[in-house]
Amino acid sequence: MTKKTLKIAPSILSADFARLGDEVQAITKAGADFIHVDVMDGHFVPNITLGPSFVKALRPFSDKPFDVHLMISPVDFYIEDFAKSGADIITVHPEAGPHIHRTLNFIRSLGKKAGLALNPGTPPDVIDCVIESVDLILVMTVNPGFGGQKFIPSMLEKIKRVRDKIGSRSIDLEVDGGIDSETAKKVTECGANVLVAGTAIFKNADYGKNISLLRQAGIIHEN
Ligand code: DX5
Ligand code: ZN
Repeated sequence: MTKKTLKIAPSILSADFARLGDEVQAITKAGADFIHVDVMDGHFVPNITLGPSFVKALRPFSDKPFDVHLMISPVDFYIEDFAKSGADIITVHPEAGPHIHRTLNFIRSLGKKAGLALNPGTPPDVIDCVIESVDLILVMTVNPGFGGQKFIPSMLEKIKRVRDKIGSRSIDLEVDGGIDSETAKKVTECGANVLVAGTAIFKNADYGKNISLLRQAGIIHEN
């Protein structure tokens, strides 16, 4: 019997960008398990955020793993830069390059954890051929690009299917988009064990309380 641990990953997309260092420090103190960094290029998704130099600048503000979600394409050229900047987990979308298997193994060859992100329209079967090369699977519960969107309920079934595929492997199942106390309960019931949340954590100044509310809402089943 192994017990999965629930991890909370605040997305700094919803933080105050003028005070990002302080914000990263504050969520770390408030109990974050990962620091989720959303990287967008205005091409793969219709929004632009930040690059490797930000990750490097923010790295000293937290001792928690930096969970870097790359929504950029083509992605391969930038992976080494993010690894050198201090990313610990680097997550890519299969649509963001020609050879997802090569990309995931390249991330691992740099000593980093490799994540595979599934858009709402991406079938979970894409996992099958690369499952031995991933440390984390991210099920997007909104279409990527913006914080504050509404959770897509049909993703619950996909989360269950991904959990089944993971089986007894030690792969984290992360969900991202529209996570609040209500949806946290549902996604963890379906097998998610890492909750990304932007709006629900940064909606007011009490990050500690907001993180604990999500932690209490999440139910982790023993398997
Ligand atoms: C969306 C990003 C998410 C986003 C989540 O493309 O990947 O990480 O910040 O934001 P909320 O929690 O506000 O839906
Ligand atoms: Zn994200």
